[in-house]
Amino acid sequence: MIRVNGADREGPSDSRTLLSDHLRHGLGLTGTHVGCEHGVCGCCTVLLDGRAVRSCLLLAVQAEGHEVTTIEGLAALDAPLHPIQQAFHECHALQCGFCTPGFVLAVKGLLDDHPRPTDREIEEGISGNLCRCTGYANIRQAVRRAAELSGPR
Ligand code: FES
Ligand code: FES
Repeated sequence: MIRVNGADREGPSDSRTLLSDHLRHGLGLTGTHVGCEHGVCGCCTVLLDGRAVRSCLLLAVQAEGHEVTTIEGLAALDAPLHPIQQAFHECHALQCGFCTPGFVLAVKGLLDDHPRPTDREIEEGISGNLCRCTGYANIRQAVRRAAELSGPR
């Protein structure tokens, strides 16, 4: 059993299944994107017990007994956008959007550790995620805006 977005979900039937594949194909959570499938692009980033991880580098069975948060779990469909989503929207921090779920969850992990990140911390926090569209300037701006929207902690 894997806890996904606050609900207990079945683990994979095949112990060799990647977490990214289990989320997408087993559980229908297709907001987790898959790009390189070998740990380079960051598209498949999810939170595992609150830490940003690449789901293409984990077996789904390794997540059993742990809490996984995917992009679908960040804000309910009928709820306001999460501050990070709102910031990406305001700052035009996406174009095609393929990289965006991974970036949003990487930024969630970053801001949980550094609520007021320095430019250096922002660089490091998003350095594992590739975007082929935006040139990163708007994404960096969105991280700063998300920190503002998240308020003081
Ligand atoms: S698909 Fe996982 S890092 Fe690229
Ligand atoms: S918005 Fe297209 S890859 Fe990032």
